[in-house]
Amino acid sequence: EPRQDMSGLRILITAGRNAEPIDPVRFVTNRSTGKMGYAIAEAAVQRGALVTLVTGPSELRPPAGITTISVQTGQEMHDAVMAHVDVQDVIIGAAAVADYRPKLRHEQKLKKKDGPLVIEFERNPDILLEVGKRKRADQVLVGFAAETENVLENARGKLERKQADLFVANDVSQPGAGFGTDTNIVTLVDRAGDTPLPLLQKRDVADQILNRVLELRERGPVS
Ligand code: PMT
Repeated sequence: EPRQDMSGLRILITAGRNAEPIDPVRFVTNRSTGKMGYAIAEAAVQRGALVTLVTGPSELRPPAGITTISVQTGQEMHDAVMAHVDVQDVIIGAAAVADYRPKLRHEQKLKKKDGPLVIEFERNPDILLEVGKRKRADQVLVGFAAETENVLENARGKLERKQADLFVANDVSQPGAGFGTDTNIVTLVDRAGDTPLPLLQKRDVADQILNRVLELRERGPVS
């Protein structure tokens, strides 16, 4: 039985990918499986937290004893997060939210034509950015940065821009890290500095993130 050090804390976690429809039979997506976000949900509920998991399409079974909200698109994920964010103590964005969606959702299946197919994309809302703007001082906001270059600089840039308290920098080009694997290699980036972690099971990365979240709650925001 793990320590109940998150007893009664409300935590919302986003996980997985989005599916952005082109027409009734096609969609645009990415490689996120949900493993990282589900591992955080599992760790948090075992430590006594009240967990809300907002998840895109995933093959995984959500852990028992939590509230799960299943969504498809980035807009739906945004709306679900915004509807539940105010009562949370901790918000963690582990989802690989679709930055763009096809501008048109065709009502009928697109027919093959001669020549190339051009699909125009428009921006989805940035969920973390919006949460950062309306965040209260007593809420802890955590983002993930999936990067392939300039990992720490980019993560620190996102920490500031999105007014988060902690960013989990994830070099997704390293073997054993990032999308689909059971392990991850991350650096915790906050206003006190960088903490590189070794290759760990995602479940253990989850506990390290939650440990830091509790420290940040005790310490209060550094500004
Ligand atoms: O699901 P797995 O297969 O286990 O893979 C795990 C993972 C690689 C998806 C995960 O570890 C990870 O890095 N998640 C973040 C992926 C991502 O979209 O990173 P980003 O750098 O594009 O986004 C930065 C942050 O803003 C993220 O917290 C993201 O959830 C959030 N965001 C991004 C875009 C958007 N429109 N809204 C957001 O809230």
